[in-house]
Amino acid sequence: MLDWLRRNWHRLLVHVIGVGLAIWLIVMYQFGDLALPERFVMLRTGMISLIFLAASFACTPISKLIGWRRLTLIRRPLGLYGFGFALAHLFVYAWLENALEWELIWRDLGERRAMLVGLIALLLLVPLAITSTTGWQRRLGKRWKMLHRLVYLAIPLAVAHFYLLDRDFKEVPLTFAIIVASLLILRLPLVKLASHSRIVKNVKIHSK
Ligand code: HEM
Repeated sequence: MLDWLRRNWHRLLVHVIGVGLAIWLIVMYQFGDLALPERFVMLRTGMISLIFLAASFACTPISKLIGWRRLTLIRRPLGLYGFGFALAHLFVYAWLENALEWELIWRDLGERRAMLVGLIALLLLVPLAITSTTGWQRRLGKRWKMLHRLVYLAIPLAVAHFYLLDRDFKEVPLTFAIIVASLLILRLPLVKLASHSRIVKNVKIHSK
């Protein structure tokens, strides 16, 4: 048991945080004595989703940077929680806030660019979530990697959705934009090559 915990604590932590946040939102919605419980949950699910998605996106470059390969093991659960909270976000927006009034929702999508961008980001995440299992990875082979490159589009679009919202203060979405842009730069082939050759050089120096 202790050995299992030592090897899997980071995976367990992701599930504790994900499930904990979902329970917190349900409790706040039911018993939180909030003026606008639907809006509270809608905004929080959006923010939590974006944090999970950005964290999932950060796993590979950070694991390479700090040399801790096990970090990539939490990429999938982080991404799936991000997707789950994004679905909950859409559900609260469409059902609890707009009572599934499609005319209203369509108008919102047409009039507010941010809504359309958010919807595209979410739709791009659907095939990624469906094919995230090891079975699908095996079945799709090389195509799996190609398909999962959609994440390079989906996450910047999710940030753009946040940025485009009609708000006076743009500091938080801008911070997300800077983080995601830095992660994208770290994933560029040239930067990857440079950090790889630095690692190889270090290994050679240490083995002398
Ligand atoms: C991957 C998908 C998405 C992510 C990561 C996301 C994330 C966010 C974030 C971070 C916020 C701001 C939360 C805050 O201020 O605390 C937000 C607000 C919002 N989102 Fe999303 N969102 C996504 C998709 C969608 C979709 C598909 C819709 C509906 C079509 C939607 C509707 C809204 C609305 C109505 C707001 C509040 C706007 C306002 O303040 O007027 N989002 N979302």
